[in-house]
Amino acid sequence: MKTQVAIIGAGPAGLFLAHLLKRHGIESVVLEARSREYVEARVRAGVLESGTIDTLNNLGLGERMMREGLVDNGLDMRFRGRTIHLDLPGLTGRSVKIYGQQEVVKDLIGARLAEGDPLIFEAEVVRIEGADTASPRVHYRHQGEARTLDCTFVAGCDGFHGVSRAAVPEGVITTYTRNYDFAWLGVLVKAPPLPDMTYTNHDRGFALCSRRSMSISRLYLQVHASDRPENWSDAQIWDELHTRVFDADRTEIKEGEIFQRDMAQLRAFIASPMQYGNLFLAGDAVHIVPPTGAKGMNMAVADARVLARGMAAYFSNGSRAALDRYSEECGLRVWKTIRYSAYMTGLLHRFSEHSEFDRGMQLTELEFISQSEAAQRTIAEQYVKLSDVAD
Ligand code: APR
Ligand code: PHB
Repeated sequence: MKTQVAIIGAGPAGLFLAHLLKRHGIESVVLEARSREYVEARVRAGVLESGTIDTLNNLGLGERMMREGLVDNGLDMRFRGRTIHLDLPGLTGRSVKIYGQQEVVKDLIGARLAEGDPLIFEAEVVRIEGADTASPRVHYRHQGEARTLDCTFVAGCDGFHGVSRAAVPEGVITTYTRNYDFAWLGVLVKAPPLPDMTYTNHDRGFALCSRRSMSISRLYLQVHASDRPENWSDAQIWDELHTRVFDADRTEIKEGEIFQRDMAQLRAFIASPMQYGNLFLAGDAVHIVPPTGAKGMNMAVADARVLARGMAAYFSNGSRAALDRYSEECGLRVWKTIRYSAYMTGLLHRFSEHSEFDRGMQLTELEFISQSEAAQRTIAEQYVKLSDVAD
């Protein structure tokens, strides 16, 4: 098989890239290791910055998001029983939308298949050959058989554990990592959510109250990295949530059936550069953010937009200039996004290594933010528009 762009991975990075390329008349084949059911059911975050919303709408695929997504105008941070309310439109002129990543993925997959374009599930890429040559070849396994896909460019959109980054020879890529010793236990609950996104810093640890609809809450608790979802009874989850959200009389957070649980490790990771010859890396394959900034999907979409623009220029006028600037163009945005996500993580979590002094500094930072509109605007701006890129 032969195509212009071989895209490895059908997460947000790969799927957005495939649709953006198509709008420029560029052919691609998407190879995804997992089944369609698995990919569509994978529960992840769900905060869409305006750049991400616009991209989906400009592709003509935003109809369900506009109908079912929830506008989020407020970001609340609680500490010492008090709430700092960030009025996003008042501080920045923008808001964000809450629409689960797997809903975005479902919409993109549905449209790709409806348009009759190649997206092959259960196609696991095992090797990339000639990434630094003019004719790369992607080797994958499908239905028990070894197959190949020849292309002009390979887009490695295969997440942190994929094969693309690993295909780059040792010494070419530099990595920067911070692993946290805590994780998030996430639950989906059949109960009305809090009206605003609420992050809390409590002596017992961080909690977050988000939502998926007016009747589905998405709640998170900071737990130790070695913890497991099954270690927690429903009653323990509720006790901990009420406590950490300063809901002493247990009336604010509405309880309901917990119908899904998952755990996400917290890590900050950057690999640079994002290109090796004709192999381009995007999304989680090259950078991971701790989820406290709600940036993972937005960053993947911004990468896809920059990459699509570079490839479009190449296929229309033969110039590699924009494409070869891909990594440089993404670099500062990626570092700023990691910086913001690490800052929010540091502001809101309990750290085992913190001394009483460190804890005092953290709470005083929250006191300062509560009294300074400038500090509030600094956080709000980064929450709504860190992933802006030109198309
Ligand atoms: N061959 C084919 N597909 C692969 C391979 C492989 N060898 N390895 C991994 N994949 C697939 C995975 O099954 C997954 O569906 O690549 C896809 C990568 O998708 P994501 O993990 O969703 O990554 P990305 O598209 O970069 O989106 C980033 O996802 O993890 C969240 O918080 C993160 O919101 C961010 C978003
Ligand atoms: C979510 O709704 O899943 C969510 C919201 C905010 C975050 C992370 C996840 O920071």
